[in-house]
Amino acid sequence: MKPTVIVVGAGGQLGQELVRSAGSAVKCIAQSRMQLDISDPAQLVAKLGALAPQVVINAAAYTAVDAAESDVEAAWRGNSEGPAHLAQACAELGARLIHVSTDFVFDGESPHPYLPDAPTNPLGEYGRSKLAGEQAVRQALPTALIMRTGWVYSRYGNNFVKTMLRLMAERDELAVVADQVGTPTWGRGLAESLWAAAVRPNLSGTYHWSDAGVCSWYDFAMAICEEALSLGLLTRSPTIRPIPAVDYPTPAQRPAYSVLDKTSSWRDLELEGVHWRQQLRSMLADLKEFQDE
Ligand SMILES: NC(=O)c1ccc[n+]([C@@H]2O[C@H](COP(=O)([O-])OP(=O)(O)OC[C@H]3O[C@@H](n4cnc5c(N)ncnc54)[C@H](OP(=O)(O)O)[C@@H]3O)[C@@H](O)[C@H]2O)c1
Repeated sequence: MKPTVIVVGAGGQLGQELVRSAGSAVKCIAQSRMQLDISDPAQLVAKLGALAPQVVINAAAYTAVDAAESDVEAAWRGNSEGPAHLAQACAELGARLIHVSTDFVFDGESPHPYLPDAPTNPLGEYGRSKLAGEQAVRQALPTALIMRTGWVYSRYGNNFVKTMLRLMAERDELAVVADQVGTPTWGRGLAESLWAAAVRPNLSGTYHWSDAGVCSWYDFAMAICEEALSLGLLTRSPTIRPIPAVDYPTPAQRPAYSVLDKTSSWRDLELEGVHWRQQLRSMLADLKEFQDE
């Protein structure tokens, strides 16, 4: 029989990619925040119990990195308390939990890509609340699988690619941070890695997923512009200037280096890493198709 998999946070950018890419090997049930609020423990066990899932994928989170610095309670409710309640509910129901976390649990001081067991040291409230969420999930449900990711974009929701496309269409000149380095992650590829985890019941522990390769936000913006021009998503090319992060102050400090080591994911999920630029092309083609519909 097909396993029933509940996608929590199904209205977010990753949630929508998960629902869209669910294969025929699973019965996927989407639950948006309206349908299932992970910060409300009373309804969690009742609602999850009624759906009787074998697996729960948690794509729900408080993701406003800068707002989290002042909206601390809400960030911890969504990223720490909510995942704790969800893991406890899964433990009670005997369901597996796949929980999504972030590269922002690291401080960016590493000279090489972060392994899943590298020491954590988040720089802001978002990262601290997500790290606390990971710890709560591990404690309540030691068999949980935690997938950390970073720089996620998709045709759904708000993200760097869609913001850049809008600004590039509006402005003659843009300044983009060039001294923060990481790896972009197409939401579809991330969703596929989570589905690969969902159908491997014996996998647990901490894993990393992003696309392959490395770039700065400036390199990413340049690539978005070039690829969008070639697809006809942009008709003009603004000047894009590289700037240091100190010239673009934000409430939350971000890691200067957040490249994740994906070796264990590629091995255990039997997936190949695809270069971020190739994934960017695929996402822009997907976006164009969506806009043309
Ligand atoms: N985006 C990135 O660059 C990035 C980077 C690293 C890690 N991640 C992680 O990837 C995962 C997915 O992120 P995303 O980019 O898809 O974020 P997103 O687009 O902001 O989606 C998050 C979803 O969670 C929902 N949600 C918030 N609180 C909830 C609650 N208490 N109960 C149920 N649902 C709730 C939100 O609903 P509302 O819209 O109604 O609030 C939203 O639909 C998160 O764990 C995030 O921390 C993302």
